[in-house]
Amino acid sequence: MKKNTRAAFIRHMLENEHTIEPTPEFSYKALIRSRQDYDEMYRRSIEDPEAFWAQMAAEHLDWFKLWDAVEEYDFTDERPYARYFRGGRLNASYNCLDRHLNGARRNKAALIWQGEPSEEVEVYTYQRLHREVCKAANMLKRLGVRRGDRVVLYLPMIPQLAIGMLACARIGAIHCVVFSGLSAEALKDRIDDSGATVVVTSNYGYRAGKILDLKGICDQALALCPQVKKCIVVRRIDKRTDMTVGRDLWWEDRMAAETSVCEPESMEATDPLFILYTSGSTAKPKGIVHGNGGYLLYAAVTSKYVFDLKESDVFWCTADVGWITGHSYLVYGALANGATSLMFEGVPTYPQPDRYWEVVEKFGVNVLYTAPTAIRSMMKEGEQWVNGHDIGSLRMLGSVGEPITSKAWLWYYSAIGQGRCPVADTWWQTESGGVMITTIPGAVDMKPGSAALPFFGVLPKVIGANGAEAATNEAGNLVVTRPWPGMALGVYRNDQAFKDVYFPTPGYYLTGDGAYRDEDGYFWITGRIDDVMNVSGHRIGTAEVESALVACLEVAEAAVVGYPHPVKGEGIYAYVTVREGAVIDDDLRARLVKSVRTTIGPIATPDVVHFARALPKTRSGKIMRRILRKIAARQTEDLCDVSTLSEPAVVDELIRDNERLIA
Ligand code: WT7
Repeated sequence: MKKNTRAAFIRHMLENEHTIEPTPEFSYKALIRSRQDYDEMYRRSIEDPEAFWAQMAAEHLDWFKLWDAVEEYDFTDERPYARYFRGGRLNASYNCLDRHLNGARRNKAALIWQGEPSEEVEVYTYQRLHREVCKAANMLKRLGVRRGDRVVLYLPMIPQLAIGMLACARIGAIHCVVFSGLSAEALKDRIDDSGATVVVTSNYGYRAGKILDLKGICDQALALCPQVKKCIVVRRIDKRTDMTVGRDLWWEDRMAAETSVCEPESMEATDPLFILYTSGSTAKPKGIVHGNGGYLLYAAVTSKYVFDLKESDVFWCTADVGWITGHSYLVYGALANGATSLMFEGVPTYPQPDRYWEVVEKFGVNVLYTAPTAIRSMMKEGEQWVNGHDIGSLRMLGSVGEPITSKAWLWYYSAIGQGRCPVADTWWQTESGGVMITTIPGAVDMKPGSAALPFFGVLPKVIGANGAEAATNEAGNLVVTRPWPGMALGVYRNDQAFKDVYFPTPGYYLTGDGAYRDEDGYFWITGRIDDVMNVSGHRIGTAEVESALVACLEVAEAAVVGYPHPVKGEGIYAYVTVREGAVIDDDLRARLVKSVRTTIGPIATPDVVHFARALPKTRSGKIMRRILRKIAARQTEDLCDVSTLSEPAVVDELIRDNERLIA
């Protein structure tokens, strides 16, 4: 049967099926081969978590010294916390590199890098990667970076990003990766908050055929960060670059002067490994802190079981290392397992919509981990882009970042997986360090659109409106009632935010997502319940966008909501009221959009700017976001009661304007 006929046939067969069993061929070879095996392992992990994680830690990591306590936590404390492997000592870069050098893995590809230009490929064996990391570690030390110091990495998807992270880990410095699509202002905020004195960037970057002036953006940020003493610049493109004498140094020059011998620091399991900023309901992103022991173990164990990782696999996690998925699966989890990790600099649809399949074919990718937004954008272009490539090497598919609709799920399963590859939807968060809810491939039946069952050691619950556990199929707040090793250590220098955001109710961790659990115990995630949007898998706080909008003098008030968008998942809809006398025109609209792009970055560009005379408010003056969300989503039949508004007529005006705005 031809591939596209087969895909259509599979879709047709499955359209009305609620559950899909993994194929016997897959299950037979899987690490966890049956539902019974999953259940048994899950039971052990919950009944005796200490024994379970101690065994996992001994099997999956090399320790310089064993721990004094496996798990310590208190979710009801004034300062809620969870700590794993206190007293244990290890080094993350040693676990990702050195220990693979004694046997056959020494010459195995650790990192395969595919640049955006297809002729640019680099292969780092474990031995080569180890040498580069040691040199980079020595370079950082020579520049004065010590254990506990913060280093900001503002880099595109190039090997030096992974090398820089592992070099920091090696000397006990705390890396703080800033996504290279973020603006100068966002970069400056993160440099300030983390207190970094060294920044690593590259002179340029590629993005869908365009050249990004990363060093230029970095210079704008550094002009406002006098505390930064050194800026190391990777020469990504041979092109004129302004270098500030005394501050800026070329990566290549400095690396050439270093030896490839560098002893790894012995770190406490509970020492911080990195800070990664993520958006919440406040205007300023929070620095999520992850540690050396629990985090690394959780990244390693989830990589292995969620992706059924095998020694010979090529594992491609398409996420940018600027986000947690890249940290946990492209870098730490994959390398801790001694796997081959593929790093791709480009985007799915450039130069053509078949770029992913060209890469899969070229490197014989076995495990693909990508996001629903990428799946939707390729689905939109049509199956012909897949059919020209031999992607038969794929055996397992993963999805992450937002709820995947059953339609996109089925397309992924049939057009890409050809009905052979299990699809694991994986629900988790920056704060969770690794996958929390998923379909363990080969063992657990799949339900398109459901993230399925908890990973080992994870005890999620849905809390209903009355504060008690929700009934079957009743929606509520998704919480986690006990800790897991990947749980964040805290919010950098802000214990209060950690408690306020994640533990407003003592006793459990609040995820910020809504969910329900069906009659088979499967979790269905319904999306964020706080003021956080999910735009193409990027987490953006409505408050961040609002604060960028009100920075324009003409703006009196701004309210931002997410609305359904066919490719991005959620689009950004901004309601804006202007001050007396301000002129509403295309120029103002353009300046508002620009302000958001320069404050946050292009990913936060509003899709709609809706100028309004007034916003719907309660009599006490609170903006009714629920109503704004409904208008933006065009679900105005069920607006409920608007009589409590101070000025109910505003709602009709907004609905009318919305229809005119998006005709
Ligand atoms: C938020 C976390 C950790 C992965 C990358 C995003 C949403 C993530 C799923 C999924 C439904 C999902 C949630 C979560 N989310 N994965 N499989 N199904 N929703 O990390 O930026 O920290 O965002 O992304 O809303 O809370 P993040």
